[in-house]
Amino acid sequence: LIKQNTYLVNGELKEWKGEMTDVFSSIRTENDKGEFAPTLLGSIPRMQEEAAQEALSAARKAYDKGKGVWPTMKVAERITAMETFVEIMKTKREEVVKYLMWEIGKNLPDSEKEFDRTVEYIYDTIEDYKQMDRDSAKFHKNSGVYAHIRRGPLGVVLCLGPYNYPLNETFALLIPAIIMGNVCIFKPAKHGVLLLSPLLEAFHKAFPKGVVNIVYGRGREVAAPIMQSGRIDVLALIGNSKSAIALQDQHPNKNRLRLVLGLEAKNPAIILPDADLDLAVDECIAGTLSFNGQRCTALKIVYVHDEIKDAFLQKYAAAVDALKFGNPWEDGVKLTPLPEPGKPDYIQELIDDAVSKGAKVINKKGGEVSENFIFPAVLFPVNKEMRVYHEEQFGPVVPVLSFSDIEEPINDIADSSYGQQVSLFGKDVYSLAPLIDNLVNLVCRVNLNSSCQRGPDVYPFTGRKDSAVSTLSVHDALRSFSIRTFVASKDN
Ligand code: G3H
Repeated sequence: LIKQNTYLVNGELKEWKGEMTDVFSSIRTENDKGEFAPTLLGSIPRMQEEAAQEALSAARKAYDKGKGVWPTMKVAERITAMETFVEIMKTKREEVVKYLMWEIGKNLPDSEKEFDRTVEYIYDTIEDYKQMDRDSAKFHKNSGVYAHIRRGPLGVVLCLGPYNYPLNETFALLIPAIIMGNVCIFKPAKHGVLLLSPLLEAFHKAFPKGVVNIVYGRGREVAAPIMQSGRIDVLALIGNSKSAIALQDQHPNKNRLRLVLGLEAKNPAIILPDADLDLAVDECIAGTLSFNGQRCTALKIVYVHDEIKDAFLQKYAAAVDALKFGNPWEDGVKLTPLPEPGKPDYIQELIDDAVSKGAKVINKKGGEVSENFIFPAVLFPVNKEMRVYHEEQFGPVVPVLSFSDIEEPINDIADSSYGQQVSLFGKDVYSLAPLIDNLVNLVCRVNLNSSCQRGPDVYPFTGRKDSAVSTLSVHDALRSFSIRTFVASKDN
């Protein structure tokens, strides 16, 4: 059990004396009464407005109107601080990985990957920051104006990460924001919060006081008052647009707020008649159901051409049924308990709605339930009357549609509220080329004969429409969290 009763504010690990909230794992273990029940993992502070204001004052003081120690620190020293952080972090791998498995149910290989990928992300960010054009001079001959152009911080960042990547995606916001000289208030996600406990010491040791302030609690009790103060310069959030909009609405002057948002998506797979079926099935399995479909980049709708739909559905449904369910640390486990207690019921609602409107669950195990899990259901044929066509399911249910004319999926993608990625399966380059040219104007990444994904983290990660505001990647995030300014002088 972790009793996380310290919090980091103003460079101090302070003891929290107020109310605590229990943190449970959806993984069931036997309790004292001999019943199998959600496992109590620990507890975290339930902070309220006063603690939120304390963190905000600490952050504003550290930024100190742009003249604080951190925003004015020499580049080499800031890099040293970040290196100190990552070196300490590396020593916590085992503990963090254990909590990734218990808190969010991510399987062992993916939990290890999340940790290692985050470490790599930090080193790559340091390298990119070293190479960055932060300081340059220009001369405009006609006007005689010299410009000394710099790239600098934006101010105080409120940072909120998602439960599905509580380490990696949170750090994909936090690390570039910090290294660019901003100061941060960070509220961890509800699931995946204890895994930060082993890292508090690293934040505490590596950075000057007030640069990173970590608060715990409910969004409306902690994040809302921080936004209402109007003293936040950047809202950095990966999660759902409802939360992002609710937080923006709290800010008294939204025009003053810079947004770095990674939001929902409904990425489609399009399977053309000449696709390599085995490859398409393998990639669709990974794309739709890695981490039970709880990824913003997951394939959340599949379009298959009429000519090959029967063969595809048969192979895909059998491959889904062959996936092993179990606890995250067990060998070969792909499907795991769902961290959100309400998720199995929600998925069941989507299945029931689709079935009542004419779809069938085409895999044998589809929809089998236990308390903390529902086996992935493949639904066919799905139509636009069904909720599963529109909603970002973020869980184990896969809607499949067939098409005879490629304009059908293209029109749907153009009409969608989202625009993150698409996966395109086919062989004929002459048919693929114009499609790719069309799709890149509708989404931000086209994956050829492969599933959608965010990595490698060096490539731009963003979305059109309701899927994102701003761009993340090792390279782009440094720019998203900074601004170019210049000093002008005239050769008189
Ligand atoms: O939840 C959305 C994540 O950014 C997905 O990342 O494609 O690396 O799993 P991933």
